[in-house]
Amino acid sequence: MATKKKSAGGRKASSKVAPAKGKLGVMVVGLGAVATTMIAGVEAVRRGLAKPIGSLTQMGTIRLGKRTENKSPLIKDFVPIADLNDVVFTGWDIFKDNVYEAAAHAAVLDKETLAKLKPYLETIKPLPAVFDQYYVKRLHGTHVKKGKNKRDLADQVIADIRNFKKTVDRVVMIWAGSTEIFLEPTAVHQSLAAFEKGLKTDDIGIAPSQIYAYAALSEGVPFANGAPNLTVDTPALIELSKKNSAPICGKDFKTGQTFMKTVLAPAFKARMIGVSGWFSTNILGNRDGEVLDDPQSFKTKEESKLGSLEYIFQPELYPDLYKDIYHKIRINYYPPRGDDKEAWDNIDIFGWLGYPMQLKVNFLCRDSILAAPIALDLVLFLDLAKRTPSLKSIGIQEWLSFYLKSPQTAEGLYPEHDLFIQSMKLKNTLRHIMGADLITHLGLEYYD
Ligand SMILES: NC(=O)c1ccc[n+]([C@@H]2O[C@H](COP(=O)([O-])OP(=O)(O)OC[C@H]3O[C@@H](n4cnc5c(N)ncnc54)[C@H](O)[C@@H]3O)[C@@H](O)[C@H]2O)c1
Repeated sequence: MATKKKSAGGRKASSKVAPAKGKLGVMVVGLGAVATTMIAGVEAVRRGLAKPIGSLTQMGTIRLGKRTENKSPLIKDFVPIADLNDVVFTGWDIFKDNVYEAAAHAAVLDKETLAKLKPYLETIKPLPAVFDQYYVKRLHGTHVKKGKNKRDLADQVIADIRNFKKTVDRVVMIWAGSTEIFLEPTAVHQSLAAFEKGLKTDDIGIAPSQIYAYAALSEGVPFANGAPNLTVDTPALIELSKKNSAPICGKDFKTGQTFMKTVLAPAFKARMIGVSGWFSTNILGNRDGEVLDDPQSFKTKEESKLGSLEYIFQPELYPDLYKDIYHKIRINYYPPRGDDKEAWDNIDIFGWLGYPMQLKVNFLCRDSILAAPIALDLVLFLDLAKRTPSLKSIGIQEWLSFYLKSPQTAEGLYPEHDLFIQSMKLKNTLRHIMGADLITHLGLEYYD
């Protein structure tokens, strides 16, 4: 695992990425559809019952050197990521159901598969959650912690982390809980000191997801956010992330419609095809759909979904093509479909001399089947970041934007949404930390 000293973008590559020795503990906040599909899926893969389709860490390769060298190892053989056999799960939920019961309720995986995994899944029982219905209107939690203030609740989560740490070697936390109401950063989020004071005074700007994140980062535990909640997207928690070498990344798993948007929009832009309108609608019948039926939770999701097109199209650079796009997003709760989301996009585009055309996309996807491998990859890559000297104390891991609808960046930087640029950034980061040459795709050397 030794890496050469090499410069990339003015940065020195790290000396050595620490090996993934021992058990990796994964603490999941919210044991719902996505979380249980990830956990059951990992166990199914460990038992050889299925393949980890959709997971870059498990199935992806990375090209090294020139195209003529034919060297493309598996990513997991190139960088020291934790072996799935070393992953141990625990988590919190506002309901008492164990992971088997929760997975059966979510009804993503079929009964036969779940039956085979039942003895294992039943052993994972949620810890009582930090919850307040003010932040998720449609849920009524029964399995929740009580505390005299938010500081007390954070301390209880810290105690949970410390207990779990006794049984494993390293820990990562991921939020797979429900989408909270839309919150904008306020004074309490501007510094760690203000945030810690706010915990004691029960500041209304501090939602449960921020309490979990604070607890994780305080303990040096990397934190990923699968929902569009504000959570770690604040100066206070970025400060804590850097201070305690606990990596963080952006928010909201990039799964169905936004995944497609960040593939199609760069294609239109690359060919200088104009866009006048983009209408996206969905039907979704799982608990996530029910939570998003509340206007305040929907607002959080809408903000997260809207951002991508604006950044990809750069209307300020291409006013003739993209300055007047009408972009509309609807999510409709429709119980009969459960987790099987159906999404429609109508895209009004225009070409040579302004002649209009239309593209229709009808994606019949399975929400949690798309999200589970993303959750797994985020956990494994954040653990890798924590063991990488050049990454662990920089706070935001922008190279993980690939997985997220709302990438987080250093102040003043616009987020990169183009899926293929994100993919290149991710793979170049892996090459960089391992001391391999970056790949620029210039390719002139083949014609010397
Ligand atoms: N599935 C996807 O494709 C996808 C894509 C992007 C984002 N997401 C987001 O991921 C999250 C999970 O999605 P899901 O489909 O699994 O939803 P879900 O409703 O099935 O699961 C969420 C779970 O979180 C629990 N929960 C809520 N608040 C909690 C708290 N404060 N502490 C602990 N547990 C809490 C709920 O009880 C529930 O079991 C949602 O926020 C969703 O918007 C999902």
